[in-house]
This record gives sequence, structure tokens and C-alpha cells, in this order.
Amino acid sequence: MDVFGIGIESSCDETSVAVVKNGREILINPIFSQTEIHQPFGGVIPEKASRAHLEKLPHLLLETLPSLKNLKMHYIAVTVKPGLVGSLLVGYNTALCLSWLLQAKFIGVHHLEAHLYAPQLTGHEMNHPFLGLLLSGGNSAIYLVQGIGKMDVLCDTVDDACGEALDKAANLMGLPYPGGPYIEKEANLFMEKEKIMVGFEEKFSKQNPLPTIQAAKEDKPVFSFSGIKTALLYFLQKNPHYPREKLCYFFLQRLTEHILHNLRYYLQKYPVKNLVFSGGVAANQYMRKHIENLATEFGVSFISPPPSLCTDNGAMVAAVGYWYYVNHKEFYVKKVESDNSFSFK
Ligand code: KG4
Repeated sequence: MDVFGIGIESSCDETSVAVVKNGREILINPIFSQTEIHQPFGGVIPEKASRAHLEKLPHLLLETLPSLKNLKMHYIAVTVKPGLVGSLLVGYNTALCLSWLLQAKFIGVHHLEAHLYAPQLTGHEMNHPFLGLLLSGGNSAIYLVQGIGKMDVLCDTVDDACGEALDKAANLMGLPYPGGPYIEKEANLFMEKEKIMVGFEEKFSKQNPLPTIQAAKEDKPVFSFSGIKTALLYFLQKNPHYPREKLCYFFLQRLTEHILHNLRYYLQKYPVKNLVFSGGVAANQYMRKHIENLATEFGVSFISPPPSLCTDNGAMVAAVGYWYYVNHKEFYVKKVESDNSFSFK
């Protein structure tokens, strides 16, 4: 029997409602991005985000519901944490109503788990255990994923998230919000000019004026993305006319080296067969190539969703919701905090 589910996402600055068949096949996945709303402020304004969800979600539903035709929806999955609480509430209440109206099971989903299972929407088998690297605007972590609802955080950030650092650095360099894609574009221009090939960059690493990032807690590597941003600020104060393309490349290089260093440590420690890279920052082709090369070095399959499914979307919520539905598991929120802990019963 085919299983159909609706996925609703409203945790931050994207509103999306998707319909997914068997957790893998996207029937419809419209996404409304609030980028233009937040761009003038250089970051997400929570109150504006919730209001935009409130305005947009009904329209997306009206766009999505006709595609259901006579299909029976088995479950309604919705992101319940982590996220901006006002934004989460919009999706949560909508999903509750829909599940009652359509007599479908209500499934709360952890946003980061949804990101990690996004690759199954493009035909990847998510064999456990796998290492999941999740880099987004609000989170940066490496997980050991042993099954649905069984995600151990191996390495978290002690300060900023990777995407947050990219956005703030872009702002310092006069680039628009969200900064990640703009930094990538600038860095690409420099790489093309200098004919730099990914992985053959030793010379440029030595020339890099920004410091390498090192961070550990109880002898284990952790992520830290805030110091490099401050280093960039001081560097720019002393060198206001330094070529932006070059600086973007150097910034990206230091972030990538830090991520690779930590990943290498956990790949050595946990012999897994797959490495999953997801979250908004995973749209970055430079990082992807480096991480893929590292996976190859370890004989591990590199799995990552296409850039369009790296950023927030409803389909990934429905994809992970599918497993909760077929395994009769229920995710529940233990504490309504923006931390990464969760459990299921
Ligand atoms: O996962 P996401 O859509 O939203 C959450 O934070 O949950 O991630 C957004 C982040 C932003 O910080 C944005 O700058 C970053 O992903 N991003 C990128 C790229 N595309 C989006 N960072 C680097 N390179 C990109 N191509």
C-alpha cells in the first residue's frame, strides 16, 4: 500500500507545504522564502518571520490541497523544534487542524533530523549507522545516526552556526543577506581567475591572512565559527581595500579546513558506510567537493541532497515523518527549548 503524507515547514524563514509518496517521491513542494523581507535587516527578524508564515501558509495550502485529489493522506508531519517559537506555532496549529480534518496521523518532526533524511527524496538509501554533518543558519553539528529518532550529537558548535558566520561575514564585506551564496560566488570568481583546483590549495592556505580555526572540548573537536568572524573584522579594519573575491575565498577556505579537520576525527572514530551532508550550507559546491573527497579517502559514500533540498522545505519533513508513520513511532517534545535534544516513544 502506498503511503501519502503532508510535510509542513515553518521553523525559520521558509514556509513550505509538501505532499510526498512513500517518504521518497515529491508530488508537490512549494516553498516561500522570506529572504526579501529580512534582507534589509541583515538577518531574520522573528516577529516578521511569524507574520509572514501566517500570511503565506494558507496560500501554500490552497496551492497544495488540489493536488491531493482523492488521495487518502496517512499522516501530517510538521517541524516542531528547533526553531523560532512564533514561526513554529503557525505550522504546528495548521498541521493539527489538518490532521483532524483529513483524519490523518499527526507527526511532530525534529527539524535537523528532517534535513539529514532529505537525500532519500532523490533516491538515496539512508542505511544506518551514518555520520550526518548538518550545517545551516542556526545549527552546526555532526551526528551519529543509528536509526530513526536515534541521533547522537558528536560535535556541536560552541558559539555561532556555520551559516550564521557566513551571513555575518558577508555583511562585514558589504554583501547582501543571506551571505552564504554571495560569498561562494565571490570566492568562485577568485578561484577561476587564479585557476585554483579544489584540493590543490596548499599554496593559498599558506598565504591565507585569516587564522586557522581550532576548538576542542574535553579533548574532542567541536565547531567554533565566531572567532574567525572577529578575525575578519579586524583584518578588514586594517586592510579596507583588500580584494573582496580573494577574502571570500580565504574565509571559505578556513571554514572548510575546520569542518574537514573535525569530520576526519569522527570518521576515524566511527567506522560508518555513509556520510550525509545537509542543511542550507550544504548547497556550497566548494565545501561539498572537499567533503566528498574526504569521504572517498575513507571509503565512505558521500550523500547530499541537491541544493534545492538543502535549504528548508516541507518535503524533507514529510520524508522523515514517513518513518515515524510506518514504524508507529511518535516524536514528542520533551522541552520547548531551542536545543537539539529530543526523544520518541
Ligand atoms: O537550512 P537553512 O535554509 O535555514 C536554517 O538556518 O535552518 O540554511 C540557511 C543558511 C544561511 O546561513 C545561508 O547563508 C546558507 O544556509 N547558505 C549557504 C549557501 N546557500 C545557503 N552557505 C554557503 N553557500 C551556499 N551556497
